[in-house]
Amino acid sequence: MINESRRGFMGKAFGAVAAVGAVASLVAMKKSWDPLPSVMAAGFTTVDMSKLTDNKLEIVKWQGKPIFLLRFGADMPPVEKRSVKVGQHYYAVMIGLCTHLGCIPAYRDTTKDFKCACHGGEFTAAGVQKFGPPPIPLHIPPFSIKDENTIVLGESGPEYQSLIASLSTDTNIA
Ligand code: FES
Repeated sequence: MINESRRGFMGKAFGAVAAVGAVASLVAMKKSWDPLPSVMAAGFTTVDMSKLTDNKLEIVKWQGKPIFLLRFGADMPPVEKRSVKVGQHYYAVMIGLCTHLGCIPAYRDTTKDFKCACHGGEFTAAGVQKFGPPPIPLHIPPFSIKDENTIVLGESGPEYQSLIASLSTDTNIA
């Protein structure tokens, strides 16, 4: 009787250890399948632009950086050279880090511009510096346009390449 209950206990104990071991192996296997953090950081971010509304800033993360996405409303003519046309709308697509010392500017929907709280720098809705210490416009991340509602951040598509080529010829740089 004692032996039987001891055997039962030992059986359950071994079973539990085996189950824990199996779970640990699965976790280890999953970790080895996952891409390295460096690979994930260099990855792409797909954005559904149809969720954006006029004059309301959306921020997504790409490579650990905030990406500003702003749909231009009818009352805010886009700066053509820096705007990105996706479907029927024009957008600002920019890295949301101040080109002075890297703070994240805030969007002011009443004045339709960005203000950097760190040293008072200001940018237009299209990301062009207009006041204070920022020396250049907000940077534009590589992107490609997949369809009328979708862009992929991190992919250098033809629209991005022609945008960068047109901006590099003047001070309105990317
Ligand atoms: S970091 Fe933005 S104005 Fe200095």
